[in-house]
Amino acid sequence: MKNFAVVTGASKGIGKAIAHELAKRGCNLLLTARSENLLNVLASELTYKYKNEVHIFPADLSDSATPQRLYSFCIGKNLPVNILINNAGYGLWGKFNVLNLDDQLNMLRLNNEIIVRNTYLFLDLLKKHEHSYILNVASTTAYQAIPAMAVYAASKIFVLNFSRALRHELKGSNVSVSCLSPGTTSTEFMDRAGQQALKKKAEKVAMKPESVARIAVRGMFKRKAEIIPGFINWFSVKVIPFMPKKLVENIAASIYKV
Ligand SMILES: NC(=O)c1ccc[n+]([C@@H]2O[C@H](COP(=O)([O-])OP(=O)(O)OC[C@H]3O[C@@H](n4cnc5c(N)ncnc54)[C@H](OP(=O)(O)O)[C@@H]3O)[C@@H](O)[C@H]2O)c1
Repeated sequence: MKNFAVVTGASKGIGKAIAHELAKRGCNLLLTARSENLLNVLASELTYKYKNEVHIFPADLSDSATPQRLYSFCIGKNLPVNILINNAGYGLWGKFNVLNLDDQLNMLRLNNEIIVRNTYLFLDLLKKHEHSYILNVASTTAYQAIPAMAVYAASKIFVLNFSRALRHELKGSNVSVSCLSPGTTSTEFMDRAGQQALKKKAEKVAMKPESVARIAVRGMFKRKAEIIPGFINWFSVKVIPFMPKKLVENIAASIYKV
């Protein structure tokens, strides 16, 4: 039976690149994000190029009711989902008490609550297949505190630890849980985060979403626990635990200076 993946945040950036990568490997897809037009264009492109089955589900995932609607859509259409990619997410740059509180809470809902809801709903469906996969998208910011991105970085620590704990609970089952932690990647992420002022510097180290997606999908099928694309990202994540936290935070504060 063909793999069937639900990809959240599939209209742009890393999610779109993951959709391409999965389609290339013969996977059928359900793509979700808010931008219906972009999803339609992507679905047509993938169907034309790879001749696979692609559904779209345009919706605002920061609404707590969306995961249940998404799940019901899959059940209603009898979609044999065996891969769940929890990718949709965004960041906000600025001091905690200067950024709008509701914006930060909305970000937490999308980055954390929706991943938990999706995973909870889809898990029984995933368990029915011989080989199933969950790929949760965190960030290299999951490995340290980031002043001026305090809530975002903390939300990604949640994704990493939730993924690792769930992976352990599912050990020996047919469901593998992986956590992808990209570093800076050339997508619309920085625009949405309000980080236009940091873009020029970031471009020097940014990875292409296509490269991140290729490494992510390969790692997911290899059932890796943590996937950190790019040597610099991997190295920094490995070195950080051996450095004094205060030093790490000072370096981050100078990079993300508001
Ligand atoms: N780019 C980076 O430097 C970087 C680094 C580390 C981790 N990440 C993580 O990678 C993931 C993907 O980000 P990206 O870089 O690809 O950013 P992006 O280009 O801004 O894409 C974000 C995706 O999420 C969707 N999305 C945003 N808000 C949504 C909502 N309320 N409801 C439904 N879908 C929503 C967007 O679609 P619509 O706008 O159409 O809704 C889009 O498809 C995020 O979890 C992010 O935290 C990114």
